[in-house]
Amino acid sequence: MANFIFLKETNSTNTYLKTRCKELCDGTVVSAEIQTAGRGRLGHGWSANEGMLPFSILLKNPIERETLTARAGLAICGVIADFCGNSPEIGIKWPNDIIIANRKVCGILCESLCFGDSVCVICGVGINISQSEDYFLSENLPHAGSLLTQTGIAPDREELLRNAAERIILRAKQPFSECRGEYRKRLVNLGKKVRIISQNGEITATAEDISANGFLVCRGENGIFEVNSGEVSVRGENGYI
Ligand code: BTN
Repeated sequence: MANFIFLKETNSTNTYLKTRCKELCDGTVVSAEIQTAGRGRLGHGWSANEGMLPFSILLKNPIERETLTARAGLAICGVIADFCGNSPEIGIKWPNDIIIANRKVCGILCESLCFGDSVCVICGVGINISQSEDYFLSENLPHAGSLLTQTGIAPDREELLRNAAERIILRAKQPFSECRGEYRKRLVNLGKKVRIISQNGEITATAEDISANGFLVCRGENGIFEVNSGEVSVRGENGYI
């Protein structure tokens, strides 16, 4: 069972848990109505207006930390399918974007803190629930969408939060070997040409699989190689996907 903390406002729900992880118990979930300095992957910001649901979950010593983002992604796809209707268009753009019909509706940021032998992982999730097309245009976010713009349904915030958190906590206990096949079905990059962008430049390859430890398996001109999510961002050959 999750233990919920509902905040009116915080800088970042991930930071809130990071600074209190020793005293809070495993499975604590914190959400905020307003998040003023949300953080995304690779040092990006994550702006939040009232149409967005930011929340984070504290997981103490979870199994297979390296595949947690992948398993959290599956949890989010499942909850979206429950609330908005299952559709093959609900997918995961590796490593952490949840997509509906080519638009990003959710991002996931897992961060770890080590204390001797124990590890706290904070799994942060931002779901766009009800922002309008105009909002994304005005924020210059052409690849973003909300559950409302992409499915016509804006679920109740608290119900969505409770379901998403429970599903992530369950997935955090499931080995990736049990859900890798399911992940492949959701992976929108599979079989597509991708541009892998890192500090060292950009290469193009074909995404062929997800490895047992959550890396993207690609085929490039020199053969097969694996990409670690910590290092890169992945785009489609001619655009976002
Ligand atoms: C990304 O797509 O780059 C990941 C975005 C993750 C944003 C969420 S919102 C709740 C939690 N708190 C944060 O500061 N970030 C995550």
